[in-house]
Amino acid sequence: PRVATYEAEAAQVSKGKVESNHAGHTGTGFVNFDVVSDAYVEFTVEAQRPGPTRLDFRHANGTSTNRPLDIAVNGTQTSDDLGFPGTGAWTTWKTVSVSTTLTSGTNKIRATTAGVDGPNLDSLTVTPEGPADTEKP
Ligand code: GCU
Repeated sequence: PRVATYEAEAAQVSKGKVESNHAGHTGTGFVNFDVVSDAYVEFTVEAQRPGPTRLDFRHANGTSTNRPLDIAVNGTQTSDDLGFPGTGAWTTWKTVSVSTTLTSGTNKIRATTAGVDGPNLDSLTVTPEGPADTEKP
């Protein structure tokens, strides 16, 4: 499929816990980052189309304080302090989007806490944005 969603609870998690106590998440749960500045969720993404790609991070933040995450693609930081503002409630899930570039094949997309805590992270949706003629058959 051109558009693929990867659940946080199925990704590689460092210093975070898979939980499911707030309704509205997709899959079987979400990741609650530990209260440290180097907790991360790393998604292994198979690029259907290398090139420009939109990343949609679905999250909830029941506080009124921004919970930024640093985003790295294949080991290189591509977003410093990407904002994850309050969503109104821990059961209200919204997406934060950022554009990046994926290479052919397997890509590692890591979201790392930049402050002392992160939002609850539900999933990552990957959408190719380049010209359609580069799509793999
Ligand atoms: C609450 C909420 C958690 C959330 C946490 C936080 O405890 O239930 O899901 O992760 O706040 O502030 O990060």
